[in-house]
Amino acid sequence: MCGIVGYIGNNAVADVLLNGLKNLEYRGYDSSGIALNDNHTIEVYKASGKLGNLYQLYAKHQPQMANAHQGIGHIRWATHGKATIENAHPHISNDGKLVLVHNGIIENYKELRNKLENQGFVFHSETDTETAVHLIDREYKLCHNLETAVIRAIKQLKGAFAFCIMHADETDKIIAVRKNAPLIIGIGKDENFIASDIPALIGKTNQILHLNDEEIAIVHKSHVEVKDTKGNTLNKTIEKIEFSPEVISKAGYKHFMLKEINEQPAILRKILQKHLPKAEDRVALADSKLNIDLSQVRNITFVACGTSLHAAYIAKATWEKWLNIPVEVVAASEFIYRYNLTDEHSLVIGISQSGETADTITAIKQAKEHNAQLIILTNREDSSITHYSANVIPLEAGIEVSVAATKSFMAQLAALYWTGMYLSEQKDNQNKFLPLKRELYEIPALMEEILSDLSDIKRMGEKLSKFKQIFYIARGIMLPIAMEGALKIKEISYINANAYASGELKHGPIALLDKDTAVIPVLAQGAVYEKTLSNCEEAKARQANIFALSNNDKDKEAALFDEAIIIPEVAEDLSPLLMCLPLQLLAYFAADELGREIDQPRNLAKSVTVE
Ligand code: F6R
Repeated sequence: MCGIVGYIGNNAVADVLLNGLKNLEYRGYDSSGIALNDNHTIEVYKASGKLGNLYQLYAKHQPQMANAHQGIGHIRWATHGKATIENAHPHISNDGKLVLVHNGIIENYKELRNKLENQGFVFHSETDTETAVHLIDREYKLCHNLETAVIRAIKQLKGAFAFCIMHADETDKIIAVRKNAPLIIGIGKDENFIASDIPALIGKTNQILHLNDEEIAIVHKSHVEVKDTKGNTLNKTIEKIEFSPEVISKAGYKHFMLKEINEQPAILRKILQKHLPKAEDRVALADSKLNIDLSQVRNITFVACGTSLHAAYIAKATWEKWLNIPVEVVAASEFIYRYNLTDEHSLVIGISQSGETADTITAIKQAKEHNAQLIILTNREDSSITHYSANVIPLEAGIEVSVAATKSFMAQLAALYWTGMYLSEQKDNQNKFLPLKRELYEIPALMEEILSDLSDIKRMGEKLSKFKQIFYIARGIMLPIAMEGALKIKEISYINANAYASGELKHGPIALLDKDTAVIPVLAQGAVYEKTLSNCEEAKARQANIFALSNNDKDKEAALFDEAIIIPEVAEDLSPLLMCLPLQLLAYFAADELGREIDQPRNLAKSVTVE
């Protein structure tokens, strides 16, 4: 949450910063700001609301910004204090010389603020961040060296931070430092960059230096020094990244979300080629790293949040029978505050698209402290969560820009299928799952079939946009998919949508059904198909409007349904991989009909780096 950028070089600083912030908008969009160091004077420009407001401010002041050669910028997702200009970053010291941007939360800010106020520092915002500015400023006034001041100050901070810091009198450098929040340095020629994440650097440089916790980068125009908090210089390796500008372009689609939904068949094909080159062979690890002693594992726990949590529930439905080991799924935010029974006989699996979700990282950290074996599934191999285990399974969905997760969810499902099969084959030391593996190969083409004609899904999505309440109902392996469908429509259209185990309807939720409610049964032929149909009858009898998603052709004409979208039938265990597409599309078309800001829904951010 929150994106930060920094630049030192000969190009137009404000342009570089604004461009960087544009590519980090998925991290927050409540307010934004930039600060430039121009001839020993710090200029700060801030705007509340969307980044476009900062662009407008920039357009007015452009000539004043022309001579600056260093600057820092921020895009905010509000935690402490409303999304006002006062609370927007950058924050500046009382003498106007020291300025910083921050991503994270300073937990001991109240106590520090009291002390600093007693010492005469004047605060202008409600943020935790402003504490850090005054703290570093206090140290600076004692030592007159920015690097030393930062080292002294961060030792007094509790919590998570990534900072970019500039001082008007130290025009040859920007300081970058992090602890439990992401920060990378982009290495250019006679220019260097700082950013929360790679998209801010795409098109600028492909040479990256990763900062670890409590490492301090002193970023000059011509070079970068990295030190530890004792002041020792560290030897860091520069890595080459492969992203091209296309990954952050909409490629002709109206929204990133629609582009990312359409990328799914190609992503799945690529994943299958890598891990199941031939259906007749055992699942291959390819270049994923996995070193698990299954003979020691007595229980498996998935920890994740939001969409990633739904993927975990789907895995539970298959892994328990494939591995014959009890599997539980726990929201990471619950796992970290419950009595922790995890031990060396536990396998704990963290799933996180971003790899930066604070709750999931803490859960994995705790499991590690309890000696559990760990596996991490993430779309970002360079992310913070990967530091806790060498057993990292990359999702390989490519950068996901839309805040609502789509292709990464499908890639999580795919990774969970092949990892579950892999572990099961290891456990029993034999080649298994031949029919399922064969069927998996068919799925990318079936996805393309769904995507080739969106007219029915679009029409249904537009109808759904008229309802104030939507009930998604399902059983068995389709229940988590229904939960994901409800989350998707809720987050981008703001319609109140909830998912229920369809057998639970009659135990309470049915009281809410009437002619103004929509019910979406998510139906896959298999063990519980008929049972779910009976629950649809119960809903129909209460005059609810029933819009079915099914893989049974007969449901197209069934009198039970007001409308039905039929998708191709595959084995029940694999049906979530196909069913996620119409659910994502229904949410998309409902939100588009309502004119919502689909890629940047209100109050949300893509990386939730706070608890
Ligand atoms: C919903 C969505 C969120 C994330 C959740 C976890 O579309 O994107 O619910 O799934 O915030 O994020 P990661 O997977 O990055 O840990």
